Amino acid sequence: MDKTSFIGKHIDYADTPVLWLNIDAFDRNVIRMKEFCNKNSVIWRPHVKASKSPDLALRLINSGAVGITCAKVSEAEVMVAGGVRDLLIANEIVGNTKINRLIEISKIAKVCVACDDEQNIQDISKIASDSNVIIDVLVDLNVGMDRCGVHLDKAPVLAKLVSDLPGVRLRGLMGYEGHVMGLDSDDKRDVSKDVSELISVARRNLESQGFEIEICSGGGTGNYWHSASLGGINELQAGGGALMDVNYMEQMNVPNHEYALFINAQIVSTTVPGQVVLDSGWKTTGRHTGLPKVVSHPDAKVKSLSAEHGMISVDSNHSFNHGERMTLVPHYSDSTVLLHRNLFIVKNDIVEDVWEISGSGALQ
Ligand SMILES: Cc1ncc(COP(=O)(O)O)c(C=O)c1O
Repeated sequence: MDKTSFIGKHIDYADTPVLWLNIDAFDRNVIRMKEFCNKNSVIWRPHVKASKSPDLALRLINSGAVGITCAKVSEAEVMVAGGVRDLLIANEIVGNTKINRLIEISKIAKVCVACDDEQNIQDISKIASDSNVIIDVLVDLNVGMDRCGVHLDKAPVLAKLVSDLPGVRLRGLMGYEGHVMGLDSDDKRDVSKDVSELISVARRNLESQGFEIEICSGGGTGNYWHSASLGGINELQAGGGALMDVNYMEQMNVPNHEYALFINAQIVSTTVPGQVVLDSGWKTTGRHTGLPKVVSHPDAKVKSLSAEHGMISVDSNHSFNHGERMTLVPHYSDSTVLLHRNLFIVKNDIVEDVWEISGSGALQ
């Protein structure tokens, strides 16, 4: 795609479906998150698993993020190729193939990785020391999500192993509390507090045994206003809130953010009374957590999605034409952006730039 042909033109010039970012709304969300971190003396390392674009990652860094968090080694490769130089892979990197890829990245950028297993630490240590590089490690704690991470009691064993082995350096702890994000407001505050306390206990425990714990990392968009103010973490991973979506807004009740990520679709059929059909189904919007929301037409509502069509209920007294556009907000940016190759950057309806989503499909 020749992106220059779109720059300076109205977003309606781009064919549908088109994924676009209201860059002013994005920047305002970023400022909110960064200012919240500043106020609480927490470093911001936003997760880019949803946005998957190095250009977007660089904009976050230029706005004050220390670096980025990502989920996969292939995602990290894309970010490094795009110019990012400070990354946390907040995930376990297992197997020699992936560890070798991690080592290659670490020759160009500062990389830190989460570990919850002794064999995994030994494997990273061996390959890193054979390659003369040092990989930073966070001991991954299970803070109640029951996904990855060790129990509090096992953290010292892993910390000692990392400290004793060559090629790896202990930087601190990670405790991601995914189980908190969808809770109601009181429970969210209380469980975030429990998580924060657990991380603090783990930290004190390790420090009392002589380990230096520089980083305690965690927090997501669904609870960052708690996690970043409770004292347990000093690095925040929340990132998706810069884009925002229906899931963050209505299921996680993220306060004071605004929608920044949109899809423009067009009507391709009006044969059923009270309904229009858009050229955007779940292959365009994703539907992992729910249905997208129509924001351009007050009475229009997504009824259902098939692969390539979105069925929208509309006021039957109002007439709609083929080719008319509607604007949708994805339900969950994380399961939407990766379906697209380009993100149109829009200011006051005019395309300023087109960013490649070069991390789409980066799953290894
Ligand atoms: C390890 C980790 N950190 C942080 C997050 C939060 O990301 P976001 O703020 O984009 O929702 C997630 C979400 O799945 C995650 O898995």
